[in-house]
Amino acid sequence: MKKIIGFVSVLFVMALFLVTNAVAADYISAKKCKACHMKQYKSWSQTNMANSFENLKAGVKVEEKKKAGLEDKDYTTDPKCLKCHTTGYGKGGFVSMEKTPDLAGVQCESCHGPGSDFSAIMKKNKEFALADVKAAGLIIPSEDEKGCMACHGGESPFVEKVDPKYKFDFKERLKNTHEHFPLKNKH
Ligand code: HEC
Ligand code: HEC
Ligand code: HEC
Ligand code: HEC
Repeated sequence: MKKIIGFVSVLFVMALFLVTNAVAADYISAKKCKACHMKQYKSWSQTNMANSFENLKAGVKVEEKKKAGLEDKDYTTDPKCLKCHTTGYGKGGFVSMEKTPDLAGVQCESCHGPGSDFSAIMKKNKEFALADVKAAGLIIPSEDEKGCMACHGGESPFVEKVDPKYKFDFKERLKNTHEHFPLKNKH
């Protein structure tokens, strides 16, 4: 009996491994999305999300850091900060500026999910079904307030308590992510 249970649990672990691997898409970076979504890319580039990595450097936003209880030093390799100021850190995305420079900052995939699988579907068929890209990991941000709060919530040093300007009003913020353009096709 013990042997059977042992065997079954090995199978179970293997199945779990296969399933989790099949689900996890890769981060491909904003440069790849840009090829097909130039307008959104341009608009996003002008937000401070695009340059968010800069804020981790010494000598940048010294006053804001002080107010949030942070000293002025180099944070560009601090895992605590990288989690929110890069794309996909600790989830197969950003690793370091040397290895993954294209994933610095808060990019498309921070809000829309890792794109390797869903962008392959978008590439194949412009009239893809929304359900298919969602099943491949596409996040529609207005349906995912929790996803925003992973970075804008209590773990961030820059919250409403520190300065009211950091208040996260979901509906208002959705409007300032990037300019929105009507889609051409039905999905
Ligand atoms: C991976 C972490 C992360 C996630 C997830 C995230 N944000 Fe942010 N967001 C940031 C950081 C960091 C900044 C500040 C950039 C800076 O100044 O360094 C920011 C800034 C912003 C800004 C200000 C842009 C500007 O230029 O004024 C808006 C709007 C915003 N986020 C909306 C959202 C919304 C809506 C969601 C969820 C759909 C979201 N964010 C999810 C990390 C994140
Ligand atoms: C849990 C996510 C999170 C962590 C961890 C985090 N940040 Fe941020 N950071 C944010 C968000 C979100 C904003 C934007 C807040 C807003 O504009 O509402 C931000 C904004 C900033 C700003 C700009 C503030 C301003 O007023 O322009 C600086 C500088 C900054 N972070 C540095 C750091 C440093 C350094 C660390 C590590 C010690 C760090 N952050 C850790 C989420 C995070
Ligand atoms: C801070 C979160 C956030 C980031 C970062 C972000 N988006 Fe979006 N995106 C949204 C929201 C919000 C919508 C509106 C759809 C909804 O949530 O209902 C949207 C919609 C879209 C749409 C549909 C058409 C449109 O214009 O509304 C496309 C295409 C898109 N995003 C591409 C991108 C690309 C490409 C990037 C990176 C260059 C990007 N997004 C970065 C939040 C974000
Ligand atoms: C090879 C081209 C291509 C690439 C690369 C690509 N997309 Fe798309 N995407 C499309 C097309 C085509 C549509 C449908 C456009 C339309 O109907 O007007 C679309 C639609 C979308 C939508 C709207 C989905 C809906 O139905 O509401 C979002 C969001 C989006 N893409 C995000 C991204 C993000 C983020 C990336 C990068 C990770 C990306 N796309 C990469 C071609 C692409």
